[in-house]
Amino acid sequence: MARILITSAIPYINGIKHLGNLVGSQLPADLYARYMRDRGNEVMFICATDEHGTPAELAAAKADKPVEEFCAEMHQTQARIAEGFRLSFDHFGRSSSPQNHALTQHLAGKLAEAGLIEEVSERQVYSHADGRFLPDRYIEGTCPNCGYDKARGDQCENCTKQLDPTDLIEPRSAISGSTDLEVRETKHLYLRQSTMKDQLDSWINSKTDWPVLTTSIAKKWLHDGDGLQDRGITRDLNWGVPVKKGNEDWPGMEGKVFYVWFDAPIEYIAATHEWADAHNKDDADWLRWWRTDKGADDVRYVQFMGKDNVPFHTLSFPATIMGSGEPWKLVDYIKSFNYLNYDGGQFSTSQGRGVFQDQALEILPADYWRWWLLSHAPESSDSEFTWENFQAGVNKDLADVLGNFVSRVTKFCRSKFGEEVPEGGTLGDTEQTLISELTKRIRAYEDHMDAMEVRKSAAELRAIWVAGNEYLQSAAPWSVFKTDPETAAAQIRLSLNLIRLYAVLSEPFIPDASARILEALQTEDDSWPDDIVTALSVLPAGHAFTVPDVLFSKITDEQREGWAEQFSGTRE
Ligand code: 2FM
Ligand code: ZN
Repeated sequence: MARILITSAIPYINGIKHLGNLVGSQLPADLYARYMRDRGNEVMFICATDEHGTPAELAAAKADKPVEEFCAEMHQTQARIAEGFRLSFDHFGRSSSPQNHALTQHLAGKLAEAGLIEEVSERQVYSHADGRFLPDRYIEGTCPNCGYDKARGDQCENCTKQLDPTDLIEPRSAISGSTDLEVRETKHLYLRQSTMKDQLDSWINSKTDWPVLTTSIAKKWLHDGDGLQDRGITRDLNWGVPVKKGNEDWPGMEGKVFYVWFDAPIEYIAATHEWADAHNKDDADWLRWWRTDKGADDVRYVQFMGKDNVPFHTLSFPATIMGSGEPWKLVDYIKSFNYLNYDGGQFSTSQGRGVFQDQALEILPADYWRWWLLSHAPESSDSEFTWENFQAGVNKDLADVLGNFVSRVTKFCRSKFGEEVPEGGTLGDTEQTLISELTKRIRAYEDHMDAMEVRKSAAELRAIWVAGNEYLQSAAPWSVFKTDPETAAAQIRLSLNLIRLYAVLSEPFIPDASARILEALQTEDDSWPDDIVTALSVLPAGHAFTVPDVLFSKITDEQREGWAEQFSGTRE
């Protein structure tokens, strides 16, 4: 039994996420977590909401709520949706937790002790009316390029010109509208990650098994242009982790918070601490996952994320961990994803384009989405969601192949032998052929799942379902039954056992259907098939079962057209 630590990139708190976010980290992470548990390993699967930063403040302001309240509510919403998709987190934390505050401040203190933090003076806009420094996007004014009067301090939305706040004509605070602004000197902290370039470089070079998507992005940031830049890790915001050195104040940093990307990955660790606290466990219980001096040296740590998150996880977060000088666990494998596009364009949270997670669950059960999204995961390139493709995938794979097999076998058995596994007969060559095909395919499926090859795993699982249908077609128990009911009984006994095996193998992809099948088969034996022949005799002759209700309904053309229409625009 191995110990596997799995984290999924933590979604921003600023709104309900779309399906692209789901397939880019949480869903494949869940697939892997479920599979690893099914194989008997000890798994710690962690996710959280990413609650700090300007987007959180802006979303709260738009919702007209205090930011704490907005975040608390949105966390609940995201947690409920995650449950709806059956994401099996051991803990879904919050980056605003006291545990994360403490750990972020602790690590910043360690980095400072190690001489890896530099204080840099910058000129920044201060608003007297608001009593605070304003981040670039909190300053509005007239664009010097096109005259648009609502240009932001970082960019003009109208002509797209990149701006500095000092370029704006008649600048004003976007918070209060006040024009009583002043440019002041202020200090910020920079993480001197450039000094760790060689260390990071050789660490990444040692990861020869990492996906190309991951290492190519990391190397680009290490070597292109000016190479690895030091990074500002503080911001002038009210909402965030206050800048401190451990428990001590940091002179000159009053009123400042850490940059959201500094504290977000630290939340992976802090969320595990939250998990321990929530379950009345000791510090040792979470430290054994994260501290190599406290038992984590035999943990395998795997991270899942979209490609835009890769630089932070291959460079900045490791720099924080390495630079702390403390034996925190570094990631062993990073599985990254391209983007899922929506019907010829991009999914977009800010523009409300595409299908959002809450809407998806309102129209169809989780398994439909899980299956389609995972079997079309954007691994080697971006992939695209279209309603036609979705309909075809669900109808063919789930309804015609898996659902149909379950339904035909159980109904045929009920009508000829009653609702129990029939006895008698022996297996012949057709069955031996099936068993050797299944053995080969199941081992291939395991290899792909171990390697986190999501699409290949889905394709292999589908082939395993197809093998059952083909077997049924060629064995044809319904005609054999007329002349040789004993042999037909053996065929159906095998097929009923195969249904159980399908439930076990499919659990990581479609957990609800899997549970319903096992329930109908009245068995709790969901052990992974080490030996296929043994696995196909778990349900003995005489074992009672019931015919399950339709497992998957087909998506009709009318439904497809209706949804395509319903989700063609944008939502607020
Ligand atoms: O891209 C995002 O949604 C970020 N909130 C991911 C953060 S992952 C991490 F570092 F915690
Ligand atoms: Zn402009």
